[in-house]
Amino acid sequence: MAEEEDVILVVDDEEGVRKVLCNKLSEEGYQCQEAESGYQALERLAGNKIALVLLDIKMPGKSGVELLPEIKELYPDTAVIMVTALDDSRLAIKCMRQGAYDYITKPFDLDELTLSVGRALEKRRLDLENRDYQQHLEQRVEEQARRIREAFVNSITALANALEAKDNYTSGHSIGVTKLAVALAEEFHMSDDEIEKIRLAGLLHDIGKIGVKEAILNKPGKLTEEEYQHVKAHCDVGVHILDPVVEDGEILMLVRHHHERYDGAGYPRGLRGDKIPLGARIMAVADAYNAMISERPYRKALSPEDACAELERCKGTQFCPIVVDTFLRIRRNLTAD
Ligand SMILES: [Fe+2]
Repeated sequence: MAEEEDVILVVDDEEGVRKVLCNKLSEEGYQCQEAESGYQALERLAGNKIALVLLDIKMPGKSGVELLPEIKELYPDTAVIMVTALDDSRLAIKCMRQGAYDYITKPFDLDELTLSVGRALEKRRLDLENRDYQQHLEQRVEEQARRIREAFVNSITALANALEAKDNYTSGHSIGVTKLAVALAEEFHMSDDEIEKIRLAGLLHDIGKIGVKEAILNKPGKLTEEEYQHVKAHCDVGVHILDPVVEDGEILMLVRHHHERYDGAGYPRGLRGDKIPLGARIMAVADAYNAMISERPYRKALSPEDACAELERCKGTQFCPIVVDTFLRIRRNLTAD
């Protein structure tokens, strides 16, 4: 079936041959153009979108054999069928090796011609579709990856919102910690990938508090030892909650270890010094600072200066000294106060 845009160029030095071919193809619904020489054929190709060329092999001047590689190079999307006398079939086969789709022999069987043209145009259409598909495949994969990531971030945000709905005092805390932790990670020249993990871990670090009893979470006074143990479990509970959605082990590790202390007296594993991943040491400082400058059920908010003095006091015991020093250096530029 002829498609509207399928223009066929008939190249033959004999006018009678051109007429026969064009008449038949027009009857079949194709648009036809004619060229009486190789040179004229190149002109037609330059000025029109030609889907298929019927190319006579023997022509004075530029022959079909010479023209074929030029067409294939300049117009690779144009299909070519060679037109040849019976005794030229070897030459025609050689042309097919050079990219011609088929050959037809004079005198023509016009029905065979129509079939061959139809097949060549169909193959061309499939080739173009395939190429288009390949070219857009990468784009589609990227787009899909973006959507998956977006859905992932949305589910993470939903979890963070769930925690904030339960515990008013942590409202804004996750975002505050994230801002500080990301600024610190940038200062440590962490890679974009690592910074992104810190950003997500920042939003999720306290998610395990969903499993902490509200009475304990909002208790105004000092916690009993038992209550404190219950609160401490939020690191491992957080990892347990996130495990089905967060595939990245490093994000889970940051959630698990954000309460480790530099001197090894932290929880849940009591890791010490450099054994605590840098991201988790960063999270610990960001978390503590943001918590100190926020009001809690059991105490008033500290001023930024007092919170900094506290970080300085606990440098080397609770907090990693380099992280604290870096934080104090850049704090004035941060808007998260
Ligand atoms: Fe925490």
